[in-house]
Amino acid sequence: MQIIRDPDALDEALAALREGGGTIAFVPTMGALHAGHMALIAEARLRASHVVASIFVNPTQFAANEDLDSYPRREAGDAAMLEAEGCAILWAPDLATMYPDGAQASLRAPAVAEGLDGAARPGHFDGVATVVARLFAQVRPDVALFGEKDYQQLAVIRRLVCDLGLPVEIVGVPTQRDADGLALSSRNAYLSDEERAAARALPRALGEAAQAIAEGAPVGDALDKARARLAAAGFDPIDYVALHDAETLAPMAALDRPARLLAAARIGRTRLIDNLPVAPA
Ligand code: PAJ
Repeated sequence: MQIIRDPDALDEALAALREGGGTIAFVPTMGALHAGHMALIAEARLRASHVVASIFVNPTQFAANEDLDSYPRREAGDAAMLEAEGCAILWAPDLATMYPDGAQASLRAPAVAEGLDGAARPGHFDGVATVVARLFAQVRPDVALFGEKDYQQLAVIRRLVCDLGLPVEIVGVPTQRDADGLALSSRNAYLSDEERAAARALPRALGEAAQAIAEGAPVGDALDKARARLAAAGFDPIDYVALHDAETLAPMAALDRPARLLAAARIGRTRLIDNLPVAPA
């Protein structure tokens, strides 16, 4: 696997991979890789001749009060994992390479970015949209893979690619979880043992609410119960527990079409997100 930091070297390496009709699947990340990221790499290998991954901790998607400075960085370990999984190129640009003129131009994320994390983290999805568009321009992949773990992000990227007519296929990959159900996340590294034990209430509360709603329980009641369960486990604040249209992310008061149950809440200093599908019977 080549680790590349220079745009000209990237162009050369991509041209070599494309020789003879080779196709490229791309997995953008912020590093601190875990089995969730690796599931994206494994799926990427099935989708194209070569896999390119990127690691760039993107400052423009972090608000001033967020964890940009403490975000876990461990490139050597990440590179070893990517190489073992058959990745051809790790694109690891520095800040000046990614934003040579200080990120002057930026994209405004589509409306699907409003509400949920877009409301809790103002500007976050504009930053994500901008860096992903920039990464697509650098790597020019045939297909790019994103996790359902960040469900609203996946919806934003799908819409962005559609609205801008970007020539890349977007593939969503199901959320990978620990044995107790907690979704894998680079931010789980922040949890103390006690917080880690309490955090399993998040997937449990979502699972119960999803099942209750699918079985016909009133949506408001099921959401209230899930919120109470999270509060009892020590989550504070609870940013949202909500049922939204699986595609448009419009809020839903009743289960009359495919839906997604989404939650974000803080335990200690760690903000966790999770989501589950809910299908009408
Ligand atoms: P990051 O949080 O590193 O995640 C990179 C990719 O891995 C995202 O598509 C995310 O949804 C996916 N992922 C993370 N945890 C997962 C899990 N448990 N199961 C399945 N997929 C999982 O998301 C970002 O980085 C950034 O916003 C980025 C898109 C790279 C733009 O900066």
